[in-house]
Amino acid sequence: MAREFDLLGTMPKRVRNVGARLIEKEQNRQLALKFGAEYFDGTREQGYGGYHYDGRWNGVAKRAIEHWQLKPGDRVLDIGCAKGFFVKDLRDALPGLNASGIDISDYALQNAHPDAKPYLSKASCDELPFPDDSFAAVFAINTIHNLDREHCQRALREIERVCPGRAFIQVDGYRTEAERELFLEWMLTAKTFDTPQGWLKMFGANGYTGEYWWTVLELDESIRR
Ligand SMILES: C[S@@+](CC[C@H](N)C(=O)[O-])C[C@H]1O[C@@H](n2cnc3c(N)ncnc32)[C@H](O)[C@@H]1O
Repeated sequence: MAREFDLLGTMPKRVRNVGARLIEKEQNRQLALKFGAEYFDGTREQGYGGYHYDGRWNGVAKRAIEHWQLKPGDRVLDIGCAKGFFVKDLRDALPGLNASGIDISDYALQNAHPDAKPYLSKASCDELPFPDDSFAAVFAINTIHNLDREHCQRALREIERVCPGRAFIQVDGYRTEAERELFLEWMLTAKTFDTPQGWLKMFGANGYTGEYWWTVLELDESIRR
């Protein structure tokens, strides 16, 4: 049975200017979906608005090491690792930890942090190139919702396969109609999104037994200009 865990709980929340995202939304969405330069290092309307290392994953790495009781030599995987910042911070926080990452984006992998780059490779979360039960922990943070429902479900089964019962997934969700509307205005790349109840049903149907949390866009973190 899957369990709740707010792994990113200590990370500061960012203010999002939802109004600005509505300008040329469809054009920006098409660009963002390529997960290329525009998405990571273009304008905020196109994605991250510049994805640079700033240590924001430091606290999360320490929390993960403590929660999963990781020790040197353990293998862990960050799925949708982007430029490898979390992989770097995991390795820095626990010397000897065998942390690696996969991502679908050539741009992110090519522009990865030099400390993480040797441990990153290209793969898709719905077809993981690893044997069963390969990892002590697997993290898929804001990644699998970028696939359509069929492939997202395949990713859930793959994550469970390589890390049974010990993975962590964070996905886009909304709890109310107002949160849903805000989410639809803001999001660029998500193809599968649901209420927590909807996600839990999908987790169960695909045998996912790890931990999870939701990325919910809250009204008080957002501004409409
Ligand atoms: C919102 S970003 C999240 C990055 C990082 N995990 C974080 O939380 O900051 C989504 C990431 O998923 C990657 N991605 C999209 N589709 C993917 C797929 N099929 N398999 C693996 N990674 C994918 C993107 O390239 C991007 O790096």
